Amino acid sequence: MIEFLKALPKAELHVHIEGTLEPELMFKLAKRNHISLPYEDAQALRKAYQFDSLQSFLDLYYQGAAVLIKEQDFYDLTWAYLERCAEQSIYHTEIFFDPQTHTQRGVSFGDVLSGINRAIVDGQQQLGVSALLIMCFLRHLSEQEAMDTLEEAMMYRHYIIGVGLDSSEKGHPPEKFQRVFEKARAAGFVTVAHAGEEGPAQYIWDAMNLLGVKRVDHGVRCVEDPVLVEYLATHKMPLTVCPLSNTKLKVFNTMAEHNILQLLDKGVMVTVNSDDPAYFGGYLVENYMSLYRHLAMTEQQAVQLAINSFNASFLSNSSKRQFIERIKRYSQKKSNSDTKLSD
Ligand code: HPA
Ligand code: ZN
Repeated sequence: MIEFLKALPKAELHVHIEGTLEPELMFKLAKRNHISLPYEDAQALRKAYQFDSLQSFLDLYYQGAAVLIKEQDFYDLTWAYLERCAEQSIYHTEIFFDPQTHTQRGVSFGDVLSGINRAIVDGQQQLGVSALLIMCFLRHLSEQEAMDTLEEAMMYRHYIIGVGLDSSEKGHPPEKFQRVFEKARAAGFVTVAHAGEEGPAQYIWDAMNLLGVKRVDHGVRCVEDPVLVEYLATHKMPLTVCPLSNTKLKVFNTMAEHNILQLLDKGVMVTVNSDDPAYFGGYLVENYMSLYRHLAMTEQQAVQLAINSFNASFLSNSSKRQFIERIKRYSQKKSNSDTKLSD
């Protein structure tokens, strides 16, 4: 199964670039930038990655991101992730970045974006991986700070396809950012938002109704409202689900309890994603593999999840069609060779 999943053409729609910062690269950048980390080495840091909630993770995640200072640091970070994409047959990825995590520390928006974008251009040319960028607002910060960030992003409008909402969900409902998202949509950005990860099902309704989102990030708590599940299925509203993240942050106690395949069965357009792979113990293939191991995901379900990942992307319809054709050719070839083996 792992070989099948590794070569299956996939898209990733929910990955925070700051969450791809592996401990080894963190130490390398800390040294380069003369920053000291409160851990002996990468191994000791990895050991500290024990979380009991979203907030306990975010505290370490923001601490880790503090080693990112120069334009080249953002390039190196993004390049390392795109190399992983190439290894795992992730043909297309839609990457979140959190400018406020960096501008608050005095790093310029331009340096963040330039480093990430330079790696994206090289990744397309040298690795054949396509990537789009989504800028997230930190929801624990104020509406005004989000407005200021949006204003700054206007100058780089053509490098950013959409805006999203991340960080601490509880106590920071979608309505806090309604005016920011209205302005973003008027400027031509598509919108997405984290909702229903730790927050209630109502936040999923609010993300759709108040923020006009085209996808819901996480969204797994939708099951608490059967009318909502029905609505998501009928309207083909994609959910970018992150299985390893959900178990590491105790949204589900065990992978066996995860609801992604039940949602798939109900016709909800769920997709598989890694969220913050350096912190949660796996990239996209490891997330698919965990569904195979703990939920008995079949090859057919994996193929459907991969098809969903392209359909739910912000690619053009013709690109979506081409990628989905590749998936179909791939799974056809695989089932032909399986038949031969059993002859
Ligand atoms: N939820 C909210 N904010 C985040 C996450 C997440 O899973 N990952 C990085 N920032
Ligand atoms: Zn996330």
